[in-house]
Amino acid sequence: MPSTQRIWITGASEGIGRGLAKHFQTLGWQTVGTARRDQGPPEADLWIPADLTRESDRVRAVDALLDRAGWPDLVVLNAGVGHLAPSAETRPEDAERVFALNYFAPVELTRLLHARSEGRALHVVVVSSIAARFGQKNLATYSASKAAVTLWAESLNEEWQGTPHRIQLVLPGVVSTDIMRHSMSSDGTPLGDRAQAHQGWTVDRAARAVERAARSRRFSHILASPGVRLALILHDLCPSLFYSLLRRKP
Ligand SMILES: NC(=O)c1ccc[n+]([C@@H]2O[C@H](COP(=O)([O-])OP(=O)(O)OC[C@H]3O[C@@H](n4cnc5c(N)ncnc54)[C@H](OP(=O)(O)O)[C@@H]3O)[C@@H](O)[C@H]2O)c1
Repeated sequence: MPSTQRIWITGASEGIGRGLAKHFQTLGWQTVGTARRDQGPPEADLWIPADLTRESDRVRAVDALLDRAGWPDLVVLNAGVGHLAPSAETRPEDAERVFALNYFAPVELTRLLHARSEGRALHVVVVSSIAARFGQKNLATYSASKAAVTLWAESLNEEWQGTPHRIQLVLPGVVSTDIMRHSMSSDGTPLGDRAQAHQGWTVDRAARAVERAARSRRFSHILASPGVRLALILHDLCPSLFYSLLRRKP
């Protein structure tokens, strides 16, 4: 890829987003990052702080991106938050926060960028999750938010056929980040030290896989082992067998 390209990554202060900034910076891209904190990591050449659950911040972030950097060659809508609570203990205000970031932020940022495209091609990669593909206890709200953004992206992919614009979807399995520590619990606070260990792919491996996905023509990319991909096929073909095996897992 030529060295003059520019990427905008949301949720770039840590985890997968920071790994993406590092990876693309190493490839010679200009990296523009966004998250709530005022200062970005060194992997972001330009930092645009924004709380992407807020409409005014989303508008301001897109304005700042276009004014201070310019049109992005690639946008990775990665910022997201977990939620771990039984459905009966899920407060509506917390479900709204999860959907505001995991669903409305990518949808609205894409709409805002598309409105400013002026004939330029828009290439968006949305970071969903394999949690969008099957149900798990205590993850109903998170999974529903990722399922919503997944089907939205699939629909937009149909709308954009034959246009210069592209949307792609990546569905990571487990990536070793602090996402569980940051996940909201039933009282709306982050789990912090109550979080269980969360070990899987490294962020470097996930970042390389997202870059490969962005270079490919394929719409949807599952970032997980062949065993997990096979389990998802089993879920679609024979859900009762899938869930009976899942329930036996410790
Ligand atoms: N790690 C996994 O195993 C895994 C698996 C499947 C899917 N995913 C998805 O991958 C994406 C990244 O996850 P991760 O593991 O890297 O999570 P993470 O380590 O918790 O990072 C989340 C990022 O989002 C930012 N963020 C949180 N709230 C925000 C807000 N209101 N406005 C703007 N930015 C906000 C955070 O920065 P600030 O705190 O500074 O705002 C941080 O940069 C998420 O969409 C997640 O659902 C992760």
